[in-house]
Amino acid sequence: RKLWEGIINEYKEFMPVRENTKIITLQEGNTPLIFAEKLSNKLDIELYLKYEGVNPTGSFKDRGMTLAVTKAVENGDKAIICASTGNTSASAAAYGSKAGLKTVVIIPEGKIALGKLTQALMHGSIVIPIKGNFDNALDITRKIAANYPITLVNSLNPYRIEGQKSAAFEVCDQLGGVSPDILAIPVGNAGNITAYWKGFKEYYQAQRTNKLPKMLGFEAEGSAAIVKKQVINSPETIATAIRIGNPVNWEKAVDAATESKGSIDFVTDEEILDAYKELALEGVFAEPASAASVAGIKKYVKLNKIGKGSKVVAVLTGHGLKDPDTALSTIQTPEAVEPNLDKILNLIGL
Ligand code: F0G
Repeated sequence: RKLWEGIINEYKEFMPVRENTKIITLQEGNTPLIFAEKLSNKLDIELYLKYEGVNPTGSFKDRGMTLAVTKAVENGDKAIICASTGNTSASAAAYGSKAGLKTVVIIPEGKIALGKLTQALMHGSIVIPIKGNFDNALDITRKIAANYPITLVNSLNPYRIEGQKSAAFEVCDQLGGVSPDILAIPVGNAGNITAYWKGFKEYYQAQRTNKLPKMLGFEAEGSAAIVKKQVINSPETIATAIRIGNPVNWEKAVDAATESKGSIDFVTDEEILDAYKELALEGVFAEPASAASVAGIKKYVKLNKIGKGSKVVAVLTGHGLKDPDTALSTIQTPEAVEPNLDKILNLIGL
């Protein structure tokens, strides 16, 4: 059996590369689509989890970054830059170092999860924390990329979307050439919902899947610019990955929802944390932002907006280990005890 070669090689006919393009890959993609048995039973639906946390840097960003960096190298670029709530910076740092590019990441100080910051530093990028939020970081990043020889790798870069659409292809392949009834996905800067919708449409057109799913995008309540139809100057949410008040792919996300007869809605931090903990007990550890998809599904089942027996895919965008601080803040960490057999048996309940 042939080994997985990364999303560009695997879906080459759908990717804007030439036969001789040098591909920069960490063998991203081919992530599991896990049947969520407990949640399916509880919600009376058929729920699958597209677990993007097992990509090389622990998030879906790798699908877009392999193509953005491949195209930058093809173009002879020497440096890349991004603003990030954490995962894009981790991914850019890894692929940038793999390609030998100077990599610069601009992040909101104190508002990126520990694992993501660690990755950006370990992969040798220039990390610049700013006293501001993601939207401020992106403004500056866009100005630098527009005026200096450094390539933007945020999702404004069209190759990011082209690479990320591969996740929709995988979902259809994994379901046996079938699309789900519903695709639920967290929304931050709104690139990924745009990418999935593009992917489903292209696969449908190529007759590689049977239909188009309804797209349900979920923002966090404190950063729900699209739902509230206004830019949010001080976005807040425990899900720092989607703490964004002015999403750049705003209109495209609305188009995806409208064309697919789906919607963009929000979930509260409490709903996010509930889904986050429930997922962990299903055996799948995703970061808080990722749980917005499942929180949204729970909300929509309750509202009867998702019918019984529906085939639903929730995108879990990033790994739970990215953000140990949030995880530990939701649970009680046990105190150390003496190495005494009886005491320990008592704690185990034996
Ligand atoms: N989930 C996670 C874990 C993310 O890191 C992001 C975005 C999203 C969901 C939302 O995806 O922006 O395409 O709508 N993170 C970006 C970053 C903003 O900088 O890492 P989106």
